[in-house]
Amino acid sequence: MPKQKQVSLNLAHRGASGHAPENTLAAFRLARQMGADGFEFDVQVTKDGVPVVIHDEALVRTTGASGYVFDYTFEEIRRLDAGSWYGEQFRGEKIPSLEEVFAEFGDLVLNVELKNSYYAMPQLEEKTIGLIRKYKLEQQVIVSSFHHMSMQELHRLAPDLKTGLLYDCVLVDAVAYAKRLGASALHPFFGTVKPDLVAEAHAAGLMVNVWTVNDEMHMRLCAQAGVDAIITNYPDRLRTVLNSVLD
Ligand code: G3P
Ligand code: MG
Repeated sequence: MPKQKQVSLNLAHRGASGHAPENTLAAFRLARQMGADGFEFDVQVTKDGVPVVIHDEALVRTTGASGYVFDYTFEEIRRLDAGSWYGEQFRGEKIPSLEEVFAEFGDLVLNVELKNSYYAMPQLEEKTIGLIRKYKLEQQVIVSSFHHMSMQELHRLAPDLKTGLLYDCVLVDAVAYAKRLGASALHPFFGTVKPDLVAEAHAAGLMVNVWTVNDEMHMRLCAQAGVDAIITNYPDRLRTVLNSVLD
């Protein structure tokens, strides 16, 4: 029997964040080395409107700096150290710009999560679309957010791009809802997903990309359920599980 093709893409969550500081070029390069198909990362805008890659709105956890991303200009935010909180060997890692990530990793699948649920991020949709066009990444990028109106707006501005709806509860009529918003994918918390949902989504032409799956048992269950992508802090562990699912 020929081997069936790999069921799920291996996407590293904030890069290989189980082994390197999240949302840094070091974590993204490690994800590639570990055989990930791509990675998920979080994007916000600086005070002067530059899209940058960082998860928390507050800077303290990953840089030690006070205040919020939107308090800093791009030049100011680039002076911060986003690596040493994780390990001394990562001292000097910077908060990347979205453009830098697109320039270096355009050969991978890139899941751009817009972190625009809590604070307004002016023109984040337009700026993201502009950079996707500049680097011709229309096929590789999927833009996701917990802010579903933002995804609806992105779809209105660029209907050819892929959007994903992030959520962490069990939705009523998730597939119909996603279709109404023009989304390409559901991005549920993995614990809410059953094989029936995956089948219904696929029948409607939607992908199902789950997060954040770090233990082998749930990686295997998600792959067997036929999800399109598994987002994990441990792409090395997931690679092994996906290989075993194919055996
Ligand atoms: O995009 C999946 C996942 O990253 C969503 O949650 O808080 O890790 O950004 P969070
Ligand atoms: Mg995220």
